[in-house]
Amino acid sequence: RTARFALDPAFTVGEVDPRLFGSFVEHLGRCVYTGVFEPGHPAADEAGLRTDVLDLVRELGVTAIRYPGGNFVSGYKWEDSVGPVDERPRRLDLAWRSTETNRFGLSEYVAFLKKVGPQAEPMVAVNLGTRGVAEALELQEYANHPSGTALSDLRAAHGDKDPFGIRLWCLGNEMDGPWQTGHKTAEEYGRLAAETARAMRQIDPSVELVACGSSGQSMSTFAEWEATVLAETYDLVDHISLHAYYEPLDGDVDSFLASAVDMESFIENVVATCDHVGAKLKSKKRINLSFDEWNVWYLSRHEESALADPLDWPEAPRLLEDNYSVLDAVVFGSLLIALLRHADRVTVACLAQLVNVIAPIMTEPGGASWRQTTFFPFAQAARYGRGQVLDVRVDSPRYETKKYGEADLLHATAVRADDGTVTVFAVNRSRTEPLPLEVALNGLELTSVVEHSVLTDTDPDARNTLDDQERVAPRTVSGTALQDGTLTAALAPLSWNVIRLA
Ligand code: AHR
Repeated sequence: RTARFALDPAFTVGEVDPRLFGSFVEHLGRCVYTGVFEPGHPAADEAGLRTDVLDLVRELGVTAIRYPGGNFVSGYKWEDSVGPVDERPRRLDLAWRSTETNRFGLSEYVAFLKKVGPQAEPMVAVNLGTRGVAEALELQEYANHPSGTALSDLRAAHGDKDPFGIRLWCLGNEMDGPWQTGHKTAEEYGRLAAETARAMRQIDPSVELVACGSSGQSMSTFAEWEATVLAETYDLVDHISLHAYYEPLDGDVDSFLASAVDMESFIENVVATCDHVGAKLKSKKRINLSFDEWNVWYLSRHEESALADPLDWPEAPRLLEDNYSVLDAVVFGSLLIALLRHADRVTVACLAQLVNVIAPIMTEPGGASWRQTTFFPFAQAARYGRGQVLDVRVDSPRYETKKYGEADLLHATAVRADDGTVTVFAVNRSRTEPLPLEVALNGLELTSVVEHSVLTDTDPDARNTLDDQERVAPRTVSGTALQDGTLTAALAPLSWNVIRLA
């Protein structure tokens, strides 16, 4: 059976915030060291940043880059990471059982963003695990105050005369998680987040603040956590965070393919909770969502290996280095579609993470860098998913999943750019059958198919590796047509599709 939907410029979801295409650099494994930063690498610049990685980051098109964690931030002492490199202390990183050398710190992060380009925006987390209001204020003063105070002058003495201009701040990380150093109850965290937010706004009322939501929809405290935290912080913050990772469990690929069903319900449940608190407070303000960690992550594998050597504190060990398949990239593309479909409320999202650690970009120390399969859907969405998201309601054949019951085989969205061109993003979840697609284009002056790009493979397990870096890439397919206001296409089994119309 054919899957169908209609597009009409009169029916939109909302404007895509460029920060929907954010990412995340955490001091974790080799994301920083031998990832973005590797002095001595043949491609390193004078600051030790890998220019081969910078090129890939630019090609990926990421915008806001969250830093320095993640779980790492809950033990983070920002002052360790600034000033003369040789004087910076080595510290235990409890989150990842590693030794943190602090050779890459705040100043290096800001330099990295500048080299990525003007689209890169800082998004910095403060430590509300082992620290509190005072240290958050000190970091803010060091980073953003122009001059004439102890900490702003210290920054200048460290070589950064110009303030860093960090506008977007996360108030801690995953504070609902018992694994978090300094984990708190919703009441404890809500109060601390509120007081930190109030004080940070005393320095600068224009900061944008993200309160910690739940680290997953399956947390037992989910929704009650958000309601309690927002009851304390509603007037003081702009966003609440969501984190979600997906993997196939017990070989259940069909449910894995429908992961976006969970992601969309998570978003909708958080929106409902935010609006419930807003209604109770009789507030006109709307809290937006920062989906600041999302990805496919083979977490259950890593949980086993994390127990392997409990007494070791290595520097930049190989951690969470998932190698993604075509199947993973199709699910990943579907997660991007879920974010775009909720662009009215999800105004920040960060792909966790950027390099080596559950990442679209991989590197070898002293060696090559390459694109994982997930690189391609992200780069295409970041490039063509700009403008107004059109309201897409699919009429699709369905299939049975263990986790989510019946799910649509087609998952889709469409974005209309300012110049009137439209890009359809679509995933066919069927593992065996092509899916015929028909899209009625109402009130859109579109006459041609610019390109139908597809990411698929006869082997869903195909991947790019150090030894075969270009095994998987999207390719252009023919046969997609636009005639008399109707787009027709055939979506290959298990595929990510980008159909550009002009
Ligand atoms: O992205 C990896 C980790 O996942 C982050 O440090 C943490 O916030 C989450 O649990």
